[in-house]
Amino acid sequence: SLQKIKQKGTLVVGMSADYPPYEFTTNKNGKTEYVGFEVDLAKQFAKDLGVKLVIKNMDFDSLLVALETGKIDTIISGMNVTNERKKSVDFSNTYYSGNSYFLINKADHDRFKKATDFKGKT
Ligand code: ARG
Repeated sequence: SLQKIKQKGTLVVGMSADYPPYEFTTNKNGKTEYVGFEVDLAKQFAKDLGVKLVIKNMDFDSLLVALETGKIDTIISGMNVTNERKKSVDFSNTYYSGNSYFLINKADHDRFKKATDFKGKT
């Protein structure tokens, strides 16, 4: 619970940091760092709660069990809602639709109709 998180002073977030641009790792001066927009989100959550962030990196398939057994406080790992998952955990409201687009100039409308039209033209 939120109260428990505040009491212990840490927010333990489970993620599988192998999923750019959501969460992944980089090596900076020999140090492994977690990066990605969900890492930023986790940092902000911890900041808002006034607690320290602890990221537990694990296999994606281990996340649900880790949450159910209390090893982590929450999962932030690009996990989509499914009926199966909903049986064991609660999902927040959606914060990212997962729909991404790239845009082209209207003048090029007739040149590019499908992805393969870009071959050799860019
Ligand atoms: N979106 C897919 C799912 O919910 C895959 C997510 C994988 N995430 C990860 N951090 N590896 O099943």
